[in-house]
Amino acid sequence: MKRFACIVGARPNFMKMAPILHAFKKYEDAQPVLIHTGQHYDKNLSDVFFDELNIRKPDLFLGVGSGTHAEQTAKVMVALEKVFMEAAANLKPFHRLVVVGDVNSTLAATLAAAKLQIPVAHVEAGLRSFDRSMPEEVNRIVTDSLSDLLLVSEPQGVANLKAEGQPDSKIRLVGNVMIDTLLAQVEKARQRSILSDLGLRSGEYCVVTLHRPSNVDQQESLQSLVDVLRRVSEALPVVFPIHPRTRERLQGFGLLEPLESAPHVVLQEPLGYNDFLSLTSQARVIVTDSGGLQEESTALLIPCLTMRENTERPITVTEGTSTLCGSSAAVLEQYLEQVIQGTYKHGQCPALWDGHAAERIVDALLQAT
Ligand code: UD1
Repeated sequence: MKRFACIVGARPNFMKMAPILHAFKKYEDAQPVLIHTGQHYDKNLSDVFFDELNIRKPDLFLGVGSGTHAEQTAKVMVALEKVFMEAAANLKPFHRLVVVGDVNSTLAATLAAAKLQIPVAHVEAGLRSFDRSMPEEVNRIVTDSLSDLLLVSEPQGVANLKAEGQPDSKIRLVGNVMIDTLLAQVEKARQRSILSDLGLRSGEYCVVTLHRPSNVDQQESLQSLVDVLRRVSEALPVVFPIHPRTRERLQGFGLLEPLESAPHVVLQEPLGYNDFLSLTSQARVIVTDSGGLQEESTALLIPCLTMRENTERPITVTEGTSTLCGSSAAVLEQYLEQVIQGTYKHGQCPALWDGHAAERIVDALLQAT
């Protein structure tokens, strides 16, 4: 029996691991062990995804919680090293680690496994923003350099890995596993009552998510984004599920009240997967700084205005519906105007974002292990 330690920690990991766990079911000689680091612990950032995506209860919960980058990374490493060593001592060693995405838990698990010579497979390998001020970029570079199986979602990822000297033998272009979950859930999501609950009509509102330090940590940039959202909401209602970090900043800068008092801005707590997909899949436009949402909007063919200077997911711009607006609220406003006027570009869904990436991933995992 081959044992795979499958790590999840933060919100964007859950929808990537769910289809992988499902795809493992057809192999009797493989045992995925689900380990939740506890990087995200709030019900609506964690539990709700397990319920809605039918992910079984984690086999192990490490409970590391929040902290600085070093604290969080170190806590995951210490806890996981213990898990790996105990498993080996009990003659149930892990044959491989499986990590997804680019959060601190991804990096920490990779470091702990690599030091114990447990081979690492990285799902969503090769993505590069070439901006090392993003913690996720550091996480991606280190994780890929320590992984022996690099499972890639878009062709540029393959090119990036080759440019870093990774051999073809380690690299597989498998497509986008997060889109497996999206395609499996979208019909069910659209049946939810959230649009009518919030007084929204399909195709006639804008969804906003912002949580990156580059957008929310400086008062001036957050203020100009809030100003644009207030103005746009007069033509197109805005619904904004607020990440805890962003709520804290809005409150601290005195910007929560101006948003709350705008008549066509609907503020929400972070939503579950299906309610959020219900909103995004029926939106006129999405404004975001999330990596995952750039991909989801591309798969849904919904315009996406991305508040970033760069993206590690370039196919969402070259083939998909996304446009990079940098950190400029003025550029955002121009593109919002194009969307409202109906002149914004159209996109297409990239190859291999077809709902079957998890099957290709698990095939590759078993072949390599
Ligand atoms: C993390 C990921 C980011 C991902 C995002 C999705 C890293 C480096 N960043 O950022 O890539 O896009 O998740 O949400 O791993 N908090 C809560 N409840 C929770 C968890 C966190 O209130 O369940 C608050 C805490 O105040 C914490 C802050 O959010 O300090 C930040 O959480 P953290 O996990 O450090 O990073 P995110 O900003 O969520």
